Amino acid sequence: MSPDDDSVGGGVDRLVGAVADGEDLAVEAALRPKDLGEFIGQRRVREQLDLVLRAARARGGTADHVLLSGSPGLGKTTLSMIIAAEMAAPIRITSGPAIQHAGDLAAILSSLAEGEVLFLDEIHRMSRPAEEMLYMAMEDFRVDVVVGKGPGATAIPLELPPFTLVGATTRAGLLPPPLRDRFGFTGHMEFYEPAELERVVHRSAGLLGVEVTAEGAGEIAGRSRGTPRIANRLLRRVRDYAQIRADGVVTREVAASALEVYEVDALGLDRLDRAVLRALLKLFGGGPVGLSTLAVAVGEERETVEEVAEPFLVREGLLARTPRGRVATPAAWRHLGLTPPEAPPGGQPGLFGT
Ligand SMILES: Nc1ncnc2c1ncn2[C@@H]1O[C@H](COP(=O)(O)OP(=O)(O)OP(=O)(O)O)[C@@H](O)[C@H]1O
Ligand SMILES: [Mg+2]
Repeated sequence: MSPDDDSVGGGVDRLVGAVADGEDLAVEAALRPKDLGEFIGQRRVREQLDLVLRAARARGGTADHVLLSGSPGLGKTTLSMIIAAEMAAPIRITSGPAIQHAGDLAAILSSLAEGEVLFLDEIHRMSRPAEEMLYMAMEDFRVDVVVGKGPGATAIPLELPPFTLVGATTRAGLLPPPLRDRFGFTGHMEFYEPAELERVVHRSAGLLGVEVTAEGAGEIAGRSRGTPRIANRLLRRVRDYAQIRADGVVTREVAASALEVYEVDALGLDRLDRAVLRALLKLFGGGPVGLSTLAVAVGEERETVEEVAEPFLVREGLLARTPRGRVATPAAWRHLGLTPPEAPPGGQPGLFGT
């Protein structure tokens, strides 16, 4: 795996991983909200986007380019489809890694219809030459197509119809500023509140024909790491359990027992997350310990620990990344039912209160 490849987790069987795969993709399509009104949460982005789209519609023009940034599973692809639907425009979907040559991009751009939405997923993983072609296309609706090779090569300017680029990235920080600045609007997607995820669970349950009580939805929402994709995935596993081991109704008890079977705990941590924490606490006394050592201890790749397990552990305040290595917080000890040591291991001031 190349260092900039962030599609990790291949070897790990993860129920809560936020990245979509197999079954997910099919169900996700069915569960996607179709317009802004149906889109739950993200109040700010929704309001901002609503203004952008309404104004463009009123002018009878094409909406400005939109950049959507946020963690996996928060609704970037969904919003891009909503943008096209709200503009009554067709949508073309591609991704940064799929565009390795500027020519690939030229082919797509030159075949766009007027007003079409071009959705460029993982835009931070586009090649440099394609990126530079995109600058001009975004700003002037024009590209230079290079014909021929070597000294005889000529650039033929090609006019493009006005279109709306919707870029999505899980890592806005990796976008070069010239690209970032060419978007007329950037929507930062936040993690969802439990109450919002409860609404997601109820909505999805309705679409899937699953009966779920308010408490049952709450139980699933609370373990979904602020991410609708995970909420939908947990709902489907809980539905299986309810169908086979209960009377089909998802109550709090059913949801809790089901998620215990799938090793998703009350905070939403899964097997890998807990393995990382347990190694950190039991083998290394809470740290600090280097990432590579920690990865070996749990039998995973460095990247898997760093990009799959750690972000949520850090977000939950269970683990801290320090210059000297990974350190467990007192909350981590409590969460695994262990007692933190008296003195801060390795003398990490601040983490242990005093
Ligand atoms: N606001 C929302 N309301 C209801 N459901 C949502 C919402 N946002 C996302 N979902 C659900 O979560 C699933 C994942 O969303 P989506 O594919 O848009 O995420 P993403 O941000 O594009 O993720 P990735 O970075 O992995 O591409 C969708 O199938 C959709 O059903
Ligand atoms: Mg997506």
